[in-house]
Amino acid sequence: NSLDLHFFYRHARLMGLYRGSNQLRPCHPRMNVMFLKTHKMASSTVMNILFRFSEKHNLTLALPAGEGYHLGYPFNLPEVQKIMPNATIYFTILRNLVSQIRSKNVNEFLASPWTYYNLSENIYNIYAMNYMWFDFGYDNNAVDTEDYFQSVIAEIEQAFHLILLTDYFDESMVLLKNTLCWDLDDVVYFKLNSRSEDSIQEMTPESKEKVKEWCSLDWKLYQHFNRTFWRRIEETIGLEKLAQEVNLLRMRQEELMELCLLDPKPVDKSRIKDRKLQPFQSGRANILGYNLRQDMDNATLRACLSLVTPELQYVSYLYAHQFPDKKKKDTAFPLWWR
Ligand SMILES: *[C@@H]1O[C@H](CO)[C@@H](O)[C@H](O)[C@H]1NC(C)=O
Ligand SMILES: *[C@@H]1O[C@H](CO)[C@@H](O)[C@H](O)[C@H]1NC(C)=O
Ligand SMILES: *[C@@H]1O[C@H](CO)[C@@H](O)[C@H](O)[C@H]1NC(C)=O
Ligand SMILES: *[C@@H]1O[C@H](CO)[C@@H](O)[C@H](O)[C@H]1NC(C)=O
Ligand SMILES: *[C@@H]1O[C@H](CO)[C@@H](O)[C@H](O)[C@H]1NC(C)=O
Repeated sequence: NSLDLHFFYRHARLMGLYRGSNQLRPCHPRMNVMFLKTHKMASSTVMNILFRFSEKHNLTLALPAGEGYHLGYPFNLPEVQKIMPNATIYFTILRNLVSQIRSKNVNEFLASPWTYYNLSENIYNIYAMNYMWFDFGYDNNAVDTEDYFQSVIAEIEQAFHLILLTDYFDESMVLLKNTLCWDLDDVVYFKLNSRSEDSIQEMTPESKEKVKEWCSLDWKLYQHFNRTFWRRIEETIGLEKLAQEVNLLRMRQEELMELCLLDPKPVDKSRIKDRKLQPFQSGRANILGYNLRQDMDNATLRACLSLVTPELQYVSYLYAHQFPDKKKKDTAFPLWWR
C-alpha cells in the first residue's frame, strides 16, 4: 500500500540505498512456497532453509501424516494445487548428471547399462535412468523425441516459477532470496546430507559421455534449465551483483560456522557426538554431520541447532509443533530445543 511504499522509500533514501528509477523495488517476503524435493540435489539443505523460514514466520507446513516422512512420490501437480494457495511460488533444484551420479559401480553400470537395467522392474530402476524426469512426474523410460521433450518442458515451465541448480548452489540461493524477497540469513546454510568422499566413485570421461546418452531426457532437461537460470540472472540482478551477493552469503556462512561448529567441516557419522544430530544413513554411503560448540548462550544455540538439525529430526520436531495433539513421529529430535 502507498503508505508502506512511502515509508520504505524515505527509509531507503535515509540509509543511502535509494538510487532512483527501478534500482530498488520494495517487495514483501513471499510466504506461500512449494518446493519439489528432488533426489540427490542438495535438497536436504534447501529443506533446512524452508524449515527455518517456516519457524521464523510461524507458517503452516504440508507434512506427511502419521509415521511417514514422504508426502508422495513422484510429483503430482493437481494434488499439490488442491492444498496450496493460488499465489504460490513453485520451485525445485536440478543437478548436472555428470556430477550427480556419483556412487559405487557407476562406471561398470554405464559401460553396459542394458545388462543391469530391466524395463519390467520399473520401480527399482528409477534411480538408474532419467530420474529427474521421474521426480517431475514423467515417464523416465519414455522415448526421447523432440516434440515430447518440448511438451514436457512447456508443462514444467508452466508449473514452476524457478528452477535452481545444485552445481551453482550459492548463486541459486541468491536467486531464491531475491525471487522470494527474503533476507540473506534466511538462505545461509550449512551443507546437509553430504557424503564422505570415500563412498563416491568418480565417473571416467567415457562414463560422462555415456550418461548423457543413457539419460538423454535428463541431460536435455538440465541443459535447458541451465540456460533459463543464467538468463533469469541476467534479466534480474545481473552477474556483477550476483557475484557480490554470493560473496556476502559465503562470508556470513563462514561467520556462522565459526560461531556454531566444533570442526571446520562436516564429520563422519561415528564422530557426531550428539546422537540426535546424526543424519539418517541410507545405503552404503557415509552421510556426514556436525558437532556444535558447547559454549553458546541459549539464543545462539537455538539458531545453530536449526542450521545443523538433520531433515528427519526437523520434520519430527515441526510435526510435533504443528500438531501437538497427534502422536509424535518416532525420530528423536532435540527436546531441549525449545
Ligand atoms: C502460529 O500459528 C498457529 C496456527 O496458525 C497459531 O495457532 C499460533 O497461535 C501461532 N503462534 C504464534 C506465536 O504466532
Ligand atoms: C484459485 O483459483 C481458482 C481458479 O481461478 C479459483 O477457482 C479458486 O477459488 C482459487 N483458490 C483460492 C484459494 O483462491
Ligand atoms: C526382468 O524383470 C522381470 C520381472 O521381475 C523378470 O521376470 C525378468 O526375468 C527380468 N529379466 C532379466 C533379463 O533379468
Ligand atoms: C551451464 O551454463 C553455464 C553458463 O552459461 C555454462 O558455462 C555451462 O557450461 C553450462 N553447463 C552445462 C552442463 O551445459
Ligand atoms: C537455557 O536453556 C537451559 C536448558 O533448557 C535452561 O535451563 C536455562 O534456564 C536457559 N537459560 C536462559 C538464560 O534462558
